[in-house]
Amino acid sequence: MEIAILGTGTVGRTLARALSGLGHQVQVGTRDVTVTQAREPAAYEGLSLLAYSDAAAGAELVINATAGTASMAALQAAGEQNLAGKTLLDVSNPLDFSGGFPPSLFVKDTDSLGEQIQRAFPEAHVVKTLNTMNAEVMVNPGLLATPTAVFLSGDHAGAKQQARTLLEGFGWEQIIDLGGITTARGVEMMLPMWLNLMSALGSATFNWAVVGGGDHG
Ligand SMILES: NC(=O)c1ccc[n+]([C@@H]2O[C@H](COP(=O)([O-])OP(=O)(O)OC[C@H]3O[C@@H](n4cnc5c(N)ncnc54)[C@H](OP(=O)(O)O)[C@@H]3O)[C@@H](O)[C@H]2O)c1
Repeated sequence: MEIAILGTGTVGRTLARALSGLGHQVQVGTRDVTVTQAREPAAYEGLSLLAYSDAAAGAELVINATAGTASMAALQAAGEQNLAGKTLLDVSNPLDFSGGFPPSLFVKDTDSLGEQIQRAFPEAHVVKTLNTMNAEVMVNPGLLATPTAVFLSGDHAGAKQQARTLLEGFGWEQIIDLGGITTARGVEMMLPMWLNLMSALGSATFNWAVVGGGDHG
């Protein structure tokens, strides 16, 4: 599949390498290709870097892996027409580091970044997923000692099926469909606790496990 990843941070690069390894054609979107490449040339080796709009234009599926505070600007730069009718996987978190660490959430409780993105791009099929673990675990859940969970939130059944197929490609087994895009509120609000766990464990290589009865698909 032709996939555009908007974002050149750890998440964008990790997803790009993993999806390329699985045989997908991946383009990575950034604000300015020359500036990004000059910043850390080795980090982008082997990746195809393009302007946000060029990356999104040719893609069948788009992944938002930009800083939460920048996601709206990055998606506007990608172009509404280049997102219309496509699955838009949203991996971002609404973290505000302006007050230092730990960050606060700039949207929560009654709204979420996933919903803001869906409202701003009504023709895109937004699926919030993979925001609740670190990049290494996203693409390799088998790293962890026992099976753990990944969540899906979105209003479009076909897009969620496409997301599920990609997640299965990474090796995810417990994929929990939480429901519509409003359920992105809950997974985004897991971030303060995720940060507490990272401090307590002294590691970012962990994840949530959901234990109980029922069919988690
Ligand atoms: N790090 C993790 O393990 C992890 C895990 C789960 C979820 N997340 C979420 O995934 C997202 C990406 O995280 P990350 O750590 O890989 O990278 P990040 O540092 O949060 O974001 C880097 C990306 O944001 C873009 N960006 C920054 N300011 C921008 C602006 N004003 N306009 C447009 N784009 C802008 C950068 O563009 P350029 O390419 O032009 O520099 C870059 O592509 C975040 O929302 C984060 O909360 C991260």
